[in-house]
Amino acid sequence: MSVFQNIVVLTGAGISAESGIDTFRGGGGLWEQHRVEDVATPEAFARDPDLVLRFYDERRAAIQTKAPNAAHEALARLDARWAGELLIVTQNVDDLHERAGTKRLVHMHGEQLSAWCTACDQRSRWTGSLIDRPACPACGMVGYLRPDIVWFGEMPYHMDDIYRALNRADLFVSIGTSGAVYPAAGFVREARQAGARTLELNLEPSEGSYWFAESRHGRATTLVPQWVDQMLGD
Ligand code: APR
Repeated sequence: MSVFQNIVVLTGAGISAESGIDTFRGGGGLWEQHRVEDVATPEAFARDPDLVLRFYDERRAAIQTKAPNAAHEALARLDARWAGELLIVTQNVDDLHERAGTKRLVHMHGEQLSAWCTACDQRSRWTGSLIDRPACPACGMVGYLRPDIVWFGEMPYHMDDIYRALNRADLFVSIGTSGAVYPAAGFVREARQAGARTLELNLEPSEGSYWFAESRHGRATTLVPQWVDQMLGD
């Protein structure tokens, strides 16, 4: 029986890297190919909607050719067997956690496979493209669908649930994130203030490594299954 009861896990692009999905800030990362302010802000969308829609259409299509890796699968195993509270908070907009079977999951930066209608505010599952301005499945209006992605300057989703879980946590684990973007980068401090133990699993020290009681460096497909086995006593 583990000494821990309530766990919060934060995941970032590093957990999907070995599935072939580009990270943002690593060598050859997405933000080296595109300026954030050109594709991932409300202003960019207002200024050049076609550029933004094409950028996300490409990534939405690419994601559907990728598969979950051993790290996603290990977290799904933890989700299925952990008797205490567990919340997996992902910054990622791919659906690899879901496809591995994880249920106790929130996407704080939105989802590639979701379209948001700015006419009726409904969100619809979306696997196709948006560049041709399809009609909203809920209200039928044309030209009002945008990617259901939280852009820079917009409020991340599920923040109340996330802070509630952090304040109840006795273990916070950060996996595959650079600790470069708030509010996610501040979660480790929230967890510490709640008295939680903090563990970082990442390829290299992140910008927030200082705040973690323990850091393990290596590939997620090695570190995450090892950690889950430890938690489940396997
Ligand atoms: N295993 C573990 N960690 C890895 C691996 C791997 N195979 N490959 C890369 N990493 C680590 C990198 O060392 C880096 O610290 O994953 C982290 C990825 O960092 P970023 O590319 O900055 O991605 P992320 O932290 O998720 O970015 C946060 O920024 O652009 C926004 O909204 C976007 O959600 C994203 C947010």
